[in-house]
Amino acid sequence: MHNSEELKVIYESRYKNASDQKGKREIVLYQKYRKLLVSKKFQTNVHLLDLGCGIGYKTVGFSLPNESVLAIDLSENAINFCIAQHQIDKVDFKAMDAFEVLGEFELITAFGFSLFNTDNNNRFIEVLEHFYTNNLSKEKGNMLLIGSFTDFSGGGKDSWYLHTKSDIEYIQKKIEEQFPLKVSIVFPHKMISNYFGFGFYNFAAEILKLIIKRKRTFFIRIEHE
Ligand SMILES: C[S@@+](CC[C@H](N)C(=O)[O-])C[C@H]1O[C@@H](n2cnc3c(N)ncnc32)[C@H](O)[C@@H]1O
Repeated sequence: MHNSEELKVIYESRYKNASDQKGKREIVLYQKYRKLLVSKKFQTNVHLLDLGCGIGYKTVGFSLPNESVLAIDLSENAINFCIAQHQIDKVDFKAMDAFEVLGEFELITAFGFSLFNTDNNNRFIEVLEHFYTNNLSKEKGNMLLIGSFTDFSGGGKDSWYLHTKSDIEYIQKKIEEQFPLKVSIVFPHKMISNYFGFGFYNFAAEILKLIIKRKRTFFIRIEHE
């Protein structure tokens, strides 16, 4: 697991020549995930915090038109790209360390966020505890949503293919034991709607991901009780 300085170097270089190649599809996909993952309570007046937003397409897709959104990332290159590319007033894109975010939010998202990319399940819980304690407003239904992917092999040393089924079950059990939170694990590939929308390209890409890459996107949905 890299520390913050190392991650900043890695991602500044990765986002130096960021492009919008997959952006449009990502927006449509995350609009679908929003409907799938978040209850109707969150259709209005939500303050959303997106941790490690990268180049921002998931943030844009996932957030609703009437929401106020803070999207943060360590990388200034990523944030400059977001500001130039998205030009959306409701989203405040900021270059900063996630651990320095102040204030509470009803909905916190972390899609592929590096701090949850760890094979140390207890470290995963510690990171979660930080954002739960400092940034989640404690009312019923408020939610942290962590998006990741895996092939369940536990084989990727420093990649996303880290979590086996038992890792995910352990994380779920530990969170429910330690906090007044209800955890559910959602696999969009099990739902038919995952394969439709955005035409044949989306269908082919989802099938390829599932069969050839054996890559399963999953979300850990953590709701306040
Ligand atoms: C794999 S990328 C995911 C980006 C985006 N959410 C997506 O899925 O396209 C991980 C992101 O986390 C950011 N990151 C890592 N550590 C961070 C920290 N401590 N504070 C804020 N952002 C961080 C990186 O700069 C990078 O953009």
